[in-house]
Order: sequence, then structure tokens, then C-alpha cells
Amino acid sequence: MAASDLLMTAARNAREQAIAPFSGFKVGAALETTDGTVITGCNIENASYGLTLCAERVAVFKALSEGHRAFRRIAVVADTPAPTAPCGACRQILWEYAGDVEVILANLERETGRFSMKTLLPVPFDAGVLRSEGER
Ligand code: THU
Repeated sequence: MAASDLLMTAARNAREQAIAPFSGFKVGAALETTDGTVITGCNIENASYGLTLCAERVAVFKALSEGHRAFRRIAVVADTPAPTAPCGACRQILWEYAGDVEVILANLERETGRFSMKTLLPVPFDAGVLRSEGER
């Protein structure tokens, strides 16, 4: 089995833990570090709606809080025929903390798309922009 298949399987399993009573839309994510460790996440909704955390951010924050700092790729799984890509907030967090990782999108049966973070967020705002303030 290809390593990306294992990552998609980890994301599908994580999706089972999703807490999504308001949208009914369950998402799972599996983030792989450069040393091959896999950290998973699922979306977690709440009654205020706006405080919902997406699966991708849960995976990134879990990984960071466990001391991981270098990442290779992330698999994101939703039960949709077309690719479910990370939302804008997740693209920002993924770019800032995981960098130009590979983003593998899948549904319950198959892979639906593959992108680099750079193509999903081509003109990012990040710490590099802050450092260059005043250089015009
Ligand atoms: N969601 C994710 O977890 N990741 C995505 O890539 C897209 C959206 C969640 C947030 C919310 O709980 C539900 O899906 C519907 O937007």
C-alpha cells in the first residue's frame, strides 16, 4: 500500500470522531511529519457555530502542541464526490506552520485531488511580509 493510501486511511478513521451535529459534514485530516509521524484531526463544531474548528487546524495544533515542527503532507477526507479543499483559515494556518506541504484530498473511496499549499495559497500573508515592512 502506498504511503499516501495509509495517510488517507488515517484521515478517514479520524473523520469518524468528527463532532458535526450542526452541519452534518464530517471531515478528517491526517498530517505527516518529515520523520513519518502521523497526527490526525477532525472537525469540532459547537453551539455558537463560529467557534468551529476544522479538521486541518485541529491536526496542525495537535502536532504543534506535541512538539512537531516539520511536515511533509496532509490528507483531508470528506464524503463528497468533488474535492473538499481546506477553507481559507486553514490555508493560512497550514501555510504558516506546515509550509509548502502536499495536500491530498480524498473521499471515502478514492483520492479526489492533489495540490501543493503554494498553489492553494499563491500570494500568502505571513511572517516574511511582516519582516519586510518598510522595504519599498
Ligand atoms: N470543514 C473542515 O473541517 N475542513 C474543511 O476543509 C472544510 C470544512 C468543516 C467545518 C464545519 O464543521 C463543516 O466542515 C462544514 O463547514
